[in-house]
Amino acid sequence: MIVARTKEEIFGPLAALRARGERLALVPTMGYLHEGHLSLVRRAKELADRVAVSIFVNPAQFGPREDFARYPRDLEGDLDKCEKAGVWMVFAPSDPRVMYREDHSTWVDVEGSLTEGLCAASRPGHFRGVATVVLKLFNLFRPDVALFGKKDYQQLAVIRQMVEDLDLSPHLEIVAGETVREPDGLALSSRNAYLSESERRRALSLYRGLSRARERFEKGERSAAVLIEAARAVIEPEVDRLDYLEVVDARSLVPVKRIEAPACMLVAAFVGSTRLIDNVELG
Ligand code: PAJ
Repeated sequence: MIVARTKEEIFGPLAALRARGERLALVPTMGYLHEGHLSLVRRAKELADRVAVSIFVNPAQFGPREDFARYPRDLEGDLDKCEKAGVWMVFAPSDPRVMYREDHSTWVDVEGSLTEGLCAASRPGHFRGVATVVLKLFNLFRPDVALFGKKDYQQLAVIRQMVEDLDLSPHLEIVAGETVREPDGLALSSRNAYLSESERRRALSLYRGLSRARERFEKGERSAAVLIEAARAVIEPEVDRLDYLEVVDARSLVPVKRIEAPACMLVAAFVGSTRLIDNVELG
């Protein structure tokens, strides 16, 4: 497995890969890898000859009062997991300055309904940081396919939009991976490492609430307000702060009152000081 710590270290192996006519898949991550990430790697291996994984805790997508400094990091463990998963190359910039020169001044802003609500409302600038770093990674690797998890539903929508708007789509396919969960339903997340045992138990309410709503949906309930209330009753007593709980159109992410087209219920909540997100597709 190739481990690149600078941009320059990517290009030689990449040119050789291209010369062999091989297809490349990219799985961008912030590391502290878990089965959610590894499920994307496995899918990537089915879709391409070689898989590259980037591991970079991207400062540009964290707000000033967020957890950039304490975000969990374990490069040794991550490299081991990637090696075992058959990854071709890991790109783990040795320093944020590898990705952002001191005079970095170009940003990718996806505007409109996708970045008006949900996480964009409580994390100003977050998706600008995500879109910018992801476009930089696309430009560095020029992958044929890139994989993202539905766990970060809004992020996936923002990236799809960017890929269409900036005409990357003829050359680059975006593939979505299903959310991988613990046996009890908790969505895997690097941030789960922050949770104490009792917080971990309370965190499960997100999945339980979403599941309650989906059961009601499957029995025929189509009112967003009723479904939200069903989920809220489960989640709100267990979390320290509910950031949002919404039913939105699956494509535009605009809130809907009645579900008549594919929709998604999304939740973000603080358990202790840890902000967790989850979602469930409805229809
Ligand atoms: P990170 O949170 O490390 O996630 C990397 C990828 O793994 C994302 O596509 C995310 O949706 C996916 N993922 C995380 N948890 C998952 C789970 N339980 N099941 C399935 N997929 C899961 O998302 C980011 O990093 C960053 O924003 C990034 C895109 C790398 C840009 O910095």
